[in-house]
Amino acid sequence: MASQDELKKQVGYKSVDDYVTSGMVVGLGTGSTAAFAVERLGELLKSGELKDIVAIPTSIRTKEQAESLDIPLVTLDTHSVLDVAIDGADEVDPDLNLVKGRGGALLREKMVEVCAKKFIVIVDDSKFVPGLGISGAMPVEVTPFCWEHTLNTVKNLPSIKGCDAKLREEDGKPYVTDNDNYIVDLYFTDPIKDANQAGKEMLETVGVVEHGLFLDMSFAVISAGTDGITVKTK
Ligand code: A5P
Repeated sequence: MASQDELKKQVGYKSVDDYVTSGMVVGLGTGSTAAFAVERLGELLKSGELKDIVAIPTSIRTKEQAESLDIPLVTLDTHSVLDVAIDGADEVDPDLNLVKGRGGALLREKMVEVCAKKFIVIVDDSKFVPGLGISGAMPVEVTPFCWEHTLNTVKNLPSIKGCDAKLREEDGKPYVTDNDNYIVDLYFTDPIKDANQAGKEMLETVGVVEHGLFLDMSFAVISAGTDGITVKTK
């Protein structure tokens, strides 16, 4: 049976093989699955099978990986429309809506991925859920300034009232994002009933920078499991 890493590699490689062609502007996601797509892109550029690609990374980690593979990088400031973006996800619901950001990169991921003509999501099939918010944290990026106030405001928003909220920590200190912000992780006992409303209320909360609900963004979800690879589109 294929290991989880092998499944991630299969979808990472397939996403580049199927959706990236020479001359494209490509968004590079963050996480253990996206890293395989970045690896494949580097490999195909090195072999000459792909040419004239420029890419936009969604985190410092991904930027460093891409640089180590000599993938030419640009930013949204010069390339505000991407042909394709490829990234992993923490949860995928039946409508291909996502929870992202357990790896902490949600703000840059969303900024880059909303600018892509096609956002390709790559997952192993453990990421499928019947409703968003039930397999673990739903991350929210907040300003460090008065983060406790923001945490309390968010957990009492009408659409998500009753959830548990915790400041993400690393080595006993607040986890700091690439944008020098903090992350509040929300935990739910039931799926989020109205994710659109929850997203709206979170974004209207001053102190919230961005949330990890990626709604109506996926063009295709490539998943791998024991039955092989599946591609779902809306
Ligand atoms: C990074 O912040 C996340 O959004 C990742 O894309 C997500 O956590 C999936 O990561 P893995 O591919 O490592 O599971």
